[in-house]
Parts: sequence; C-alpha cells; structure tokens
Amino acid sequence: MTENPNIPETVRAVAADGTQLRYALMEMAGQMDDVITLGRGDPDLPTPAHIVEAANRAMREGRTGLTPVEGLPQLRAAIANHMREYNGLPVGAENVMVTTGGQEGLFLAIQALIDPGDEILVPDPRYTSYDDAIRRAGGEMVMVPTDREDAFNLEAEAVEAAITPASKALLIVTPSNPTAGIVTEDRLRAIADVCIRHNLIVIVDEIYGRIVYEPWRHFSIGSLPGMAERTITLDAFSKAYAMTGWRCGYVAAPENVIDAMARVKQVTTGPVATVSQWAGLAALTGPQDCVSDYLQIYTERRAVLLDGLDRMGFAYGEPRGGLFVWADSSSTGIHAAELSYLLLKEGRVLIFPGTAFGENWREYVRITLLEPIETLKAAVERMLPVLARYRA
Ligand SMILES: Cc1ncc(COP(=O)(O)O)c(C=O)c1O
Repeated sequence: MTENPNIPETVRAVAADGTQLRYALMEMAGQMDDVITLGRGDPDLPTPAHIVEAANRAMREGRTGLTPVEGLPQLRAAIANHMREYNGLPVGAENVMVTTGGQEGLFLAIQALIDPGDEILVPDPRYTSYDDAIRRAGGEMVMVPTDREDAFNLEAEAVEAAITPASKALLIVTPSNPTAGIVTEDRLRAIADVCIRHNLIVIVDEIYGRIVYEPWRHFSIGSLPGMAERTITLDAFSKAYAMTGWRCGYVAAPENVIDAMARVKQVTTGPVATVSQWAGLAALTGPQDCVSDYLQIYTERRAVLLDGLDRMGFAYGEPRGGLFVWADSSSTGIHAAELSYLLLKEGRVLIFPGTAFGENWREYVRITLLEPIETLKAAVERMLPVLARYRA
C-alpha cells in the first residue's frame, strides 16, 4: 500500500475513525463543484406522493400535538401488525417504540442493554455508528469476521468462537451496510441456537430488509422459537420508503427493553415529530407498490455499477441486499482512504473507503446505488482514468 504524501491532514488525522472519516470526505466534497456523490446511504428517490399527502392532511387537520413517547398508538399497532405479517415476529403494540430514525433506535437499544465492561459481538465490517454508541455506553466490541468468499454472510461458528464470559449481546445487520451481504435463514437458525445456548441478546438491524435482490429473501431471527424474548429488531421508514429526512424508525423488543429505552428517550428527544409518525402510518398501511418499484430501480442500477466495477478491475462479493456495493480495490495497490481521496480530488466522485467501516478494510471501498443510471455510468467514466494514472 502506498502512503500518498498529498493526502491532506484533515483526512489523514481522522483516517482511523470511521464516522469522522466519512464526514471529512463529505465536507471536502461539499466544497467542490460538480461532484458525483456515491457516499452517503440516503435514497435519492422521492418520498411517495401518498405518504407526503398523508402528512399534509395531518397538518391541515391539526393532528400535530405531542404523542406518547413510545409513539402514536395507531402507528405502534400498525408496526406490530407489519412485523407479525412481514417479519413473522410474535409482537404486539406494547413491544414497539417509534424512534427518530434508525439511528436513534440503535443508540437507545445500546444504551438500554449495554453496561460498562459488557462485550458485544459485532460483524466486521459494519456500520460504525454502532461503534460510537457502544463506546458511549462503556461496552467493548469483539469482532466477528466475515469475508468476500462467503458473500459476507455471518457464520455461527465464528460467532461462537468470539464468545467470552463477558459477552452480553450479538449485533447483526442484515442486509448489511456496508457489505450488501445478507445473513441467510440457515445461518440465522444456527446463530439463534448459539445465542440461546450462551444466553446472548441479539440486536438485529433490518433497515434494508425490504431491499433484497432476487433470488434472495429477508429473514428475521426474532421469528425463531425462543428468540423473541432476547431479540431487539430495528427498522425504519428511511430506506424502503425513501424517507430519511422524516426521521421515523422503530424498534420491536421485549416490553422491559422498550420501557428502558423510553426512559432515555423521554429526557432526550421525546416523541418523534407527530407529522412524521402520520407519514409513517401511511407508508405502512397504504399501497406498497412504491417499495417494489424502488427495488426494481435499485436492481437496474446495481447491474450497471457491477459492470463498471468489472471494467475498473474491482472484485466484489455478490451484493444481495441494501443500497451499496462493497468492492475490493486491492488491484490498485493504494490504501482505500487515499484512493477515495484521489477519486474525489481528481475524478470528482465521492465514495467511502472501507476503513470507514472497520480498520481492517483498507483494500475495500463502498459505493452507493443512489444516483440515476446515467450518473452512475458517468461516475465510472470519471474514475477509470484516475485509476489508470495511479495503478502500479
Ligand atoms: C445499517 C444502518 N442502520 C441504521 C441507519 C440509520 O438510519 P436512519 O437514517 O433511519 O437514522 C443506517 C443509515 O444509513 C444504516 O445504514
């Protein structure tokens, strides 16, 4: 791996902190003109019109007062219904909390469950907001490796090998950000068995659970026998319904966990903005074609991007779900943080280095599917000459 002396101090200084590194690159991109941004994971597609209209109607009709901290009762009931039908979880409205996006759900779940000194097993690589939440709770992360040959699926044996007497919980993100791998049903069954035997809590982030590519299927570990009482399932409207800015997500968990989360939420953010909760209710109870239409768009974009990666000489594990491609950039011989910097500065394309998702991933980059096909093609054309220039 080369050490490029031209990398600015702002990027170098934060290279070891995944979240800070992402923000440093986004700040640089914000100061440049005509950048194609394939960094952040927020859908570029519009929130479907019937959802926007439901929010408008709620405002017009004055349905804007505070809701209980756990959420609008009608929405909690609709979420429980959806999680029973779609995810197979044996939950009622009392097991549901509406959160300020998936982000608050993950933070509250970690706050409620992790005490100083507790170990939490986390997949490597992972969405590093978890690292920040775990550190703030005084928890210790223990990595569970995943690899490209296995399409970044999680193995029960690897989970079991990482368990120590201090292990309290296992984090699963399926489909994964950043790897686009899914944890398949057979693996989840074996992992559930390990968790029951070792008395581990499972926090499962299913925020991309409705964005799964054929022939793969999403499966919820909380639906397995003996798991509902030890599983916290996290989801949000952000990805499936292109509603990131509405800040509306949800968690399903045993009632005592919901109570513990509510105590923190009450003194921090309070209930989710009421208008966003009415929008969320329309999302779940209205027509669902928008979800499959958007999935079709992502499927087409994914094919274009994979074709581009083949031309760029980047290998990848099959992206089975979510909004990203996680590609092996080792053929360039350049550290991923430096490569991302060079592609931004000289190619005006923002992608994220693998090290933003775990320190070991210096030969990987994450690229999003969140621009139209023509823009994705243009991004590939911009990156190719930069790669040709720097390739050894
Ligand atoms: C795996 C994962 N969980 C949670 C979140 C947070 O989502 P939200 O925008 O709903 O807060 C994200 C956002 O990118 C994510 O990728």
